[in-house]
Amino acid sequence: MSRADDRPVVIVSNRGPLSFTTVDGSPVAKRGSGGLVSGLAPLLDSGRASWTAAALSDADRSAIDDDGLARGAGLEVRLIDIDTHTMRRYYDDISNSTLWFVHHGLYDRVRAPAYDQGWWDAWEAYREVNNRFAESIAEHAPGGARVLVQDYHLSLVARRARLERDDLSFVHFHHTPFAGPEDFSALPPSVRKELLEGLSSHDACGFHTSNWETNYRLTSSRFGVAAGRTFIGTLNSDLDDLRTVAAGEACRTALDALEEVVGDRTLIARVDRMELSKNIVRGFAGYDRLLERRPDLRGRVVFAATCYPSRLGVEDYRRYHDEVIDSVALVNERWGDADWQPIHLFTDDDFPRSVALMRRYDVLLVNPIRDGLNLVAKEGPALNEHDGSLVLSTEAGAYSELNEACDGLFPFDIEATADALEAAIDRDPQQRAFTARNLEALATARTPADWLADQLEAG
Ligand code: G6P
Repeated sequence: MSRADDRPVVIVSNRGPLSFTTVDGSPVAKRGSGGLVSGLAPLLDSGRASWTAAALSDADRSAIDDDGLARGAGLEVRLIDIDTHTMRRYYDDISNSTLWFVHHGLYDRVRAPAYDQGWWDAWEAYREVNNRFAESIAEHAPGGARVLVQDYHLSLVARRARLERDDLSFVHFHHTPFAGPEDFSALPPSVRKELLEGLSSHDACGFHTSNWETNYRLTSSRFGVAAGRTFIGTLNSDLDDLRTVAAGEACRTALDALEEVVGDRTLIARVDRMELSKNIVRGFAGYDRLLERRPDLRGRVVFAATCYPSRLGVEDYRRYHDEVIDSVALVNERWGDADWQPIHLFTDDDFPRSVALMRRYDVLLVNPIRDGLNLVAKEGPALNEHDGSLVLSTEAGAYSELNEACDGLFPFDIEATADALEAAIDRDPQQRAFTARNLEALATARTPADWLADQLEAG
């Protein structure tokens, strides 16, 4: 191992690997799941890495000790304590309502964006939180560390931290899509420049796919900022973690309950946060259209959807939550009868049940408007036991890895959604088995450790 490989590592993200709830007046830690945490866990366990994140709730804040650290579930994390008001502006108003919209192309531009004084105050809060992270890194990062900054919330950290610590190297990983010049032009000119200069202050910027890397280069060039070094390193979930959940009692119980609902019908499934970019309503509209076109499928298919609330601090998300509920009711009222409910919607975030759905589906619908990657599109094929098919949006980052073995879908087209579901349902068993094997191989080609290695190498 070279000397460079022994350098300490500091991981920096908005959401950390631990979240706390208050039980009987004391904070109780829960370890997060997903590729990010499992990819980084071995490094944390080895003692070579530390993690810095924001305290996202009062319970998180109450878990911080005098040294600024919070501990639990075998992990230790440095939590930055930011007041609720500043946090709301940085997270809800800028990260989720502005940057997320820009990178996912969600603005309609008729009513939004509109940069009033409230928004500019929120932009100040974004800078302030980024500065707080930078100060913490400048104070606590071990000498010569590689600092791995995760995602769009923290674009300005490296530039600021470098002013005080020129011994550190910084790598940024962008988990979302990156906006092309047109989408990025919806940001105020000074903000575009500040964000792009923030990103180019890193030693390297990483993306899940070449699409987003290309957009980053095009956008930087259009707005006159020299893009820094870039790399592509796609993320996968930890298969051992997923299989442990799949083998567990909670998943077994959920699977039994699901079998009761499905019987001998064909199962279409989806698993998503109730997220604007996930395109949940158009997905149900495509299913509605399919039931209209194909009377023979009525009663013979069932759609089980896990769509759990997310970012309810943002009004657009609250409204979308209601639209999802309404769109399910519409289909169920239109086609359902005493013996058959066309859609079963689950709105609680129950991971063992999501795993049960992924083990059991015949068709998995993943139809985002745009997505940095979409881990469900890989987790489903990795876990599925029914030779299930994947209908996948061409706008999801994962499409570039899985396109040979999935049904590609232009996500705005409701007729095409019905077509793709229909083709998957009608596929003959031999073809299904063949495609499912290919899909599984593609979906499990990499591990979270590979993703981490790409970032470490870039630093
Ligand atoms: C998804 C995206 C990430 C994003 C995260 C934020 O996982 O892929 O890019 O950072 O959501 O979610 P949160 O609930 O923390 O806002």
